[in-house]
Amino acid sequence: MDTQDKIIEAFSEMAPHYEKTVDAELDRFWGWRYEGFIDRLIRTTTIKADAAVLDVATGTAMIPLKINDLRKTRGRINGLDITMSMLSQARQKILTKEAVNIDLVCGDGMSLPYAGAAFDVVICGLATHHMDVARLLAELTRVLRHEGILSIADVGSTAIWRLPGVKLLLRLAAFIYFILHASLSRAWAEALSISNIRSEADWFSMLPQLGYKDISIVQLKSRFFWIPKPFVIHATKP
Ligand SMILES: C[S@@+](CC[C@H](N)C(=O)[O-])C[C@H]1O[C@@H](n2cnc3c(N)ncnc32)[C@H](O)[C@@H]1O
Repeated sequence: MDTQDKIIEAFSEMAPHYEKTVDAELDRFWGWRYEGFIDRLIRTTTIKADAAVLDVATGTAMIPLKINDLRKTRGRINGLDITMSMLSQARQKILTKEAVNIDLVCGDGMSLPYAGAAFDVVICGLATHHMDVARLLAELTRVLRHEGILSIADVGSTAIWRLPGVKLLLRLAAFIYFILHASLSRAWAEALSISNIRSEADWFSMLPQLGYKDISIVQLKSRFFWIPKPFVIHATKP
């Protein structure tokens, strides 16, 4: 079973109770409620009234539905995710809310099934660490239009992670934590994700290389100094 199969297995198991689980975890580690975290991300993202939006790794469509609730755009909102069961949960919520402007697609964020320059805004919440960040960023950049907005929220690493053995230790800690509190598949998915977690400095180096301007990276509050902290990135594609 490869890494992507492990991720799909983990999120398929989690799908029916995803929002409850993530709400409890964000609160425990960061002191954020899930809804408040997504609200913060969307309220700080510039979305023009007719913008076409793509949410990569949309999960249960919390981000597209929040954009709708806040009436940020009259344009179409696309939600893409690799796990069918997460999209099934998303579909039910979209039907309940009669959110007719949201389209869901099952696909890989590192190989997007869209033409180049198709979106005004591209968002990725709590998911860059499940992918090869360089491949993901190349794809997000390809589908963004000129002057398009990139918006990312995720966990970030710090300089201490570069010390020998630290990543291995964190991988072990994540594996043990999630096997005790969740499942074997979740433990694999989270342990494997450690090597994809990037620091603020990494993002500040990668984004200008891809030509981004007006880059803002804001570290958000977190409960414990030793837990990797959340951050929100906004940048504009020139
Ligand atoms: C922690 S959830 C985040 C979901 C949602 N963005 C949110 O904020 O609640 C991570 C999501 O990333 C998805 N994912 C992981 N790897 C992916 C990939 N290569 N392409 C698309 N989605 C992926 C998973 O299926 C899962 O739904």
